[in-house]
Amino acid sequence: MTGKVAFVTGGASGIGASLVTKLVERGAEVWIADRQLGPAQELAQRLANPGAAVHAVELDVRSYPDFERAVATAIEQSGRIDYLFNNAGIGIGGEIDSFTVDDWNDIIDVNLRGVVHGIQAVYPTMISRRSGHIVNTASMAGLVTMTAQAGYSATKHAVVALSKTLRLEAERYGIRVSVLCPGVVRTPILTGGRYGRNTSVSDEDLLKLGEALRPMDPDDFAERSLRAVLRNEAIIVVPRWWKALWYLERLSPALSMAAAKVALKRTREVQTPRPPATPTPPSG
Ligand SMILES: NC(=O)c1ccc[n+]([C@@H]2O[C@H](COP(=O)([O-])OP(=O)(O)OC[C@H]3O[C@@H](n4cnc5c(N)ncnc54)[C@H](O)[C@@H]3O)[C@@H](O)[C@H]2O)c1
Repeated sequence: MTGKVAFVTGGASGIGASLVTKLVERGAEVWIADRQLGPAQELAQRLANPGAAVHAVELDVRSYPDFERAVATAIEQSGRIDYLFNNAGIGIGGEIDSFTVDDWNDIIDVNLRGVVHGIQAVYPTMISRRSGHIVNTASMAGLVTMTAQAGYSATKHAVVALSKTLRLEAERYGIRVSVLCPGVVRTPILTGGRYGRNTSVSDEDLLKLGEALRPMDPDDFAERSLRAVLRNEAIIVVPRWWKALWYLERLSPALSMAAAKVALKRTREVQTPRPPATPTPPSG
């Protein structure tokens, strides 16, 4: 990846920060684009050395004009974007009866609209160069039924669908598209992340549930994922053992839903009971 330019949204923390680190180690010039500018700048400073160009730019992926501006800055200074990692995301955990309309809007705005904004801002520049690789971060929650996180799961299913279609359409321009589907990786998102939250499960209970699934180290995740990206794999599931659930989903959706039902029961057992949210009155 020496000489390549990568743009990583949500690059200041967790998986994004590990992807940035591994990209720099492989000789890429990297743009860390994150809503958290301070941590993005700290990471850029830590990684910068005479042989490595690492930049930090403030970006809220929910805003298309901001995305366009950040991309224009990167292209002006670095000439092009070879790799776009649409990685920024938040978690809003909880059952649907505890969700408000704001919860739905927030998760759709970051996890789905944010990815769409990245594609709209960068794909045309790749088309004109007839080259590039777009890597969207979805989740195992985008491949199988996941309970107590419907908003998250719905947005991640959408990102998988979008990525598969884009991969086929972009082929004629020589542009590659991959989608990362992490299982559980040890990052702040396990309790929602800096901008996420939980509506019916406490942070402690969520951590307990996450730990039971043996979270992977983010550096390990990034290393394995990048190798798969370089092999141009379409749907990248890491850690690999999560593939068993994906196979089960395709083999028997009914059995997969039965497994999800067991997981829901387990979540309800550990969670601290809370009253359901008051329904939002219709506007107008
Ligand atoms: N950690 C896991 O177990 C796991 C599993 C499946 C999928 N994922 C996905 O991996 C991606 C990275 O998450 P992570 O686990 O590293 O979590 P994280 O919370 O450590 O990192 C998320 C990053 O996204 C940034 N971000 C959030 N909202 C933003 C916005 N509006 N604009 C710009 N940046 C924003 C945050 O500041 C943070 O730096 C997410 O898309 C997440 O859904 C993570």
